[in-house]
Amino acid sequence: MYSLIKPALFRINPEVAHDLTINSLKVLGQCLGPSAPEEGRPCEIAGLRFKNSIGLAAGLDKDAVAVSGFSRLGFGHLEVGTVTPRSQPGNPKPRVFRLEEDAGLINRFGFNNHGVDALVERLQNHPYQGIIGVNIGKNKDTPNEEAHLDYVACIQKAAAVCDYITINVSSPNTPGLRDLAEARKILDVVAPVLEARSDLHNRKDGYLPVFVKLAPDFEDQDLIQVLEALKRTQADGVILTNTTLNRERLRSNFREQSGGLSGAPLTTKAEHCLRIAIDALEATLPVISVGGVMSGDDAKRRLELGAQLVQLYTGLIYRGPVLVRDAIRMTR
Ligand SMILES: Cc1cc2nc3c(=O)[nH]c(=O)nc-3n(C[C@H](O)[C@H](O)[C@H](O)COP(=O)(O)O)c2cc1C
Repeated sequence: MYSLIKPALFRINPEVAHDLTINSLKVLGQCLGPSAPEEGRPCEIAGLRFKNSIGLAAGLDKDAVAVSGFSRLGFGHLEVGTVTPRSQPGNPKPRVFRLEEDAGLINRFGFNNHGVDALVERLQNHPYQGIIGVNIGKNKDTPNEEAHLDYVACIQKAAAVCDYITINVSSPNTPGLRDLAEARKILDVVAPVLEARSDLHNRKDGYLPVFVKLAPDFEDQDLIQVLEALKRTQADGVILTNTTLNRERLRSNFREQSGGLSGAPLTTKAEHCLRIAIDALEATLPVISVGGVMSGDDAKRRLELGAQLVQLYTGLIYRGPVLVRDAIRMTR
C-alpha cells in the first residue's frame, strides 16, 4: 500500500507531505480508535512493560495529535514531543529536506509545537494501551542558565498523562541546546528534573521513569564522560541518538542544508554510539537505540549490540508501516 502512495508523497514538499501524513493518521485514529501494541519481544524498563521492542521516535508526532493513528502501526511505545512550556513556531520554512539518494533527511524544525498544556489536554485519558513517552525541551528564547526551569515545568505538567519522560538535550536546531549535554553541565538540567519527579503529586500510576536523549556528535571520550555522569543519577535510561551535524559521504544536492541529518547516513554512527554506551554503562542503565534503523535487520542488530528498545523515524518515511511490522517480527 505505502509503495503506491510513496511516489506521490515524495513528489510534494516534504513538510506538506509530513502534515498530510499526520492528518491522515489523525483521521484514521479518530475513525478506528487506537490498537493495542503488536505482540513482540517484551521488555521491562524501570517498571514499564513494553509489549514489543519497537517505538516511534520523538519529533514525528510532536503535539500528540495522532497517537491513535500511530498506534495502529503496531508500535510498543510512542514518544511524542519535543514539547516546550510555551507554544512556538519553530524556524522559517523550508526546514526539512529529503536526501533521496542517501535515504536520509535533514531537518531544522526547531521545536515547532503547541506547548505542553495543549499536549496534556490531548493525552488526558487517552485510551492507547501501549507506553506513551513525552519528550521535553526548552523554549528557544529561554536562556541556557534558566533551561532547567523549562524542563521542570514540562515534567510537572506532562507527568499526569504519560508513562515516561525524555529530557532532550540533543537537538541541533535550538541554539545552544547541545551545550546543556556537556559532561560538566548535564546534571544542571537532569538533577532538577529528577528532583521535580520526586515531588510529583499528579500521578496516578506511581513511579515516572526519566530517560535522557543524547546527540551522536560527541568525541568518544566526551560521550563516555556524559554517560558516567548520568550513571551517578537516578535517571532510568539513555536514548541514543538524535540527528547528526556530520555530512560525510552524502550524494544529495541538499547535503549542505543546515540542520540535523537522520536516516541511513546515521546508521553506522548510531551503532558506534550504542557500542560505547553499552561498554561505559556496564548495564547500570538501559539504552534505547535510534538513528538509521531502516530495516528489520537493523533493529535486530541494535538488540544484539545490547539495546533494550529501538525507535524509528526516517525509516518510516522511506519504508512505510511495513518497517514497523518487520522490525517487530525480526526482534521477536
Ligand atoms: C523531521 C524530524 C524532526 C525531529 N524532531 C525531533 C524532536 O522534536 N525531538 C527529538 O528528540 N528528536 C527529534 N528528531 C530526531 C529523531 O527522534 C531521531 O532521534 C533521529 O531522527 C534519528 O533517527 P532516524 O534516523 O530513525 O530518523 C527529529 C527527526 C526528524 C527527521
